[in-house]
Amino acid sequence: MGELTFGVPTLFGLESLCADEMRRLGLEEVKAENGRVLCRGGLADLPRLNVNLRTGERVLLIMGTFPAENFDALFEGTRALPWERFIPQEGQFPVKGHSLNSALHSVPACQSIVKKAVAARLGSCYGLNTLPETGALYQIQFSIMKDTAVLMLDTSGAGLHKRGYRAQGVDAPLRETLAAAMVMLSRYRGKDPLCDPFCGSGTIPIEAALIAKNRAPGLNRSFSAQRWRCLDKKLWMEAADEAMDREFDGDYEIWGGDLDPKAVELARHNAQLAEVEDLVRFDVDDARTFHWGGLRGRVVTNPPYGERIMERREAEELYRAFGKAWQKFPEGWKLFLLSSHTEFERTFGQKADKKRKLYNGMLKCDLFMYGL
Ligand SMILES: C[S@@+](CC[C@H](N)C(=O)[O-])C[C@H]1O[C@@H](n2cnc3c(N)ncnc32)[C@H](O)[C@@H]1O
Repeated sequence: MGELTFGVPTLFGLESLCADEMRRLGLEEVKAENGRVLCRGGLADLPRLNVNLRTGERVLLIMGTFPAENFDALFEGTRALPWERFIPQEGQFPVKGHSLNSALHSVPACQSIVKKAVAARLGSCYGLNTLPETGALYQIQFSIMKDTAVLMLDTSGAGLHKRGYRAQGVDAPLRETLAAAMVMLSRYRGKDPLCDPFCGSGTIPIEAALIAKNRAPGLNRSFSAQRWRCLDKKLWMEAADEAMDREFDGDYEIWGGDLDPKAVELARHNAQLAEVEDLVRFDVDDARTFHWGGLRGRVVTNPPYGERIMERREAEELYRAFGKAWQKFPEGWKLFLLSSHTEFERTFGQKADKKRKLYNGMLKCDLFMYGL
């Protein structure tokens, strides 16, 4: 059994997808909770999770969980954990966290207690009164919920949605983790065309291309724990090699269109950075007259909601016109459309076969599914 416990926060609604990803990677005791997924594994799984997960936000190493109803309990519980196993003498260990429904509700006070407790532990292990904190970053995170403290080390650094391919955003870019989740929920495996007629900066087609060729999303970026001394560099190389061995070549029909030429230009640029420009095509096109040949395929898309980009009425007009265009598609086509608009189905002109609640940041949305 794996000796380490990992906690991976996710956007609300993506927990079960992330849990499936972990099981496919061979992690043990995978457990999806509200907004996070836990699993157990060994040190070698730490790079594997960071490099491979498409729907997780970051990989946290859970150092310990204990009751903390007062500052003493928080201090003693934190000091009892084996921080020296991971944090060397010169490591920097800033602390951040949150508290909810707990007696210890002042986050700055908890931060300073945790910092003091870790410093006390490391100081006595290394025989130092003052720790230099000049080395690599070991970001400590705590969460105190209902008087139970969880102490963690962040292994990822920048969130895992930062794949390293988004040069700059457009007005309302979709988070890469959510785009990947939409493509995964459409059960896209690289067969048949996949189209996004409201592609913006191209996140959905780019994530689809990465999924089609089974390219790990973290191969083009770095992670905090790559600088950790306790982790042999070899483990990162092995994780990257393993991921690259699982890639395959193929011919895919992946397309993105947008009315805005600047968005299309940006999408092309992002596809280049993601090294999938040969697999995805982007064109300036109007979704109101969207059409595609072939008896089967998928449309996975994220149109304006009328909350941020354009007014509600305009969004409704757009949904109406897009609904008419959709009616012309043969039965073998499926549509997966994300919107927060409460009147989407009515204006689109058809009730969804299935809906799934997903959160685009703080915005509650539905993924409307047709043709299932
Ligand atoms: C919510 S954004 C999509 C964001 C995209 N998923 C991303 O990650 O960047 C919606 C996009 O729809 C585009 N749009 C609006 N009306 C359109 C139309 N009639 N045809 C095609 N695109 C349209 C906008 O230019 C905008 O880029």
